[in-house]
Amino acid sequence: MRKSYLKFFLFAFLLACAGASQVHSAQEFEPRVGQEGKDVIWVPTPQALVDRMLDMGKVTANDYVIDLGSGDGRTVITAAKRGAKAAGIEYNPDMVELSKRNAAKEGMSDKATFAKADLFEADLSPATVITMFLLPDINLKLRPKILNLKPGTRIVSNSFTMGDWSADDTVNVKDGCVSYCTAYLWIVPAKVDGAWQLPDGDLTLKQTYQTIAGTLKRGGNTVQIANGKLNGDQIIFNAAGALYTGRVSGNGMEGTISSGGSWKASRSGK
Ligand SMILES: C[S@@+](CC[C@H](N)C(=O)[O-])C[C@H]1O[C@@H](n2cnc3c(N)ncnc32)[C@H](O)[C@@H]1O
Repeated sequence: MRKSYLKFFLFAFLLACAGASQVHSAQEFEPRVGQEGKDVIWVPTPQALVDRMLDMGKVTANDYVIDLGSGDGRTVITAAKRGAKAAGIEYNPDMVELSKRNAAKEGMSDKATFAKADLFEADLSPATVITMFLLPDINLKLRPKILNLKPGTRIVSNSFTMGDWSADDTVNVKDGCVSYCTAYLWIVPAKVDGAWQLPDGDLTLKQTYQTIAGTLKRGGNTVQIANGKLNGDQIIFNAAGALYTGRVSGNGMEGTISSGGSWKASRSGK
C-alpha cells in the first residue's frame, strides 16, 4: 500500500515536472534578429514602417491581408487592428506559436491567424493585400504568381523591389526607423495586351506591367496612344488629343472620353 502511494506521488511529480518544463520552454522561445529562416533570415520590420506599409496598401476592414514570411506576426496583428482579416504564412513553427501568443495578447486571435507553411506553396488568391519583407530573388520568383492575382491586389514590400516591374509608389520612413525604412507598392494590373475591337475601330495594346502603349484606329485614322496606364482594372490613355478612361473586365473594357461620349472595346475574336 505504501509502495503504491509512493509510485503514485512519483508519477504525479514527474507529470507535473514535464508539464512545467513544456510551459517553460514555450515561454522561453526568444526570437533572435538574424536567426536562420528557410529562405530568408528573420529581421523584423520596424513598427513605423509596418504602419506605413499598411497605409500604402490602403488596408481597411474590407481587406484580406497575407504577410509572406510573417516572423513574429507584427504586420498581421497590425492589419487585424485595422479590422482586416489577416493571415501570416511562416515556416518556422516557433515563430508561428510566438505570433499566435502575440495576437492573443493583443486580443486579435479571431482576425489574425498564422499557418506554419512554405510561402511558395501558399494560396494567395484570397488576398486583397500582400505584404512581405523577403529578398529580391524571392520577390522575382513570386512575381508570375502575383501578376496572376485579381487586378487591383496591392503588394507592399519592405526594402526589396520586383525586378523590372517598377513600383506604383515608394515611401521612405524617417521617424521611428533606422534600418530597412523603404517600402514599395505595386498594384496588380489587368491583362490588356493584344488586339481589341471597338464598334467603329481597333485598339492594339502593348502592355509592360502597368504601362501601355499602342495604337487606336477610329474612322479610318490611326493614332498612337500616349501616357497609357493601368491601375488595377482602371485604364487610362491619351489618343488624338482626348483622354480615354475606363474599366477592364475580363474580355471587355468601357469608359468615357474627355472630348465627350463613351467608348467600349472587346477582345478581338471574342
Ligand atoms: C525578414 S523576416 C520578415 C518578418 C515579418 N514579415 C516582418 O516584416 O517583420 C522573413 C521571415 O520569413 C520567414 N521565412 C523564410 N523562408 C520562408 C518560407 N519559405 N516560407 C515561409 N516563411 C519563410 C523567416 O522565418 C522570417 O520570419
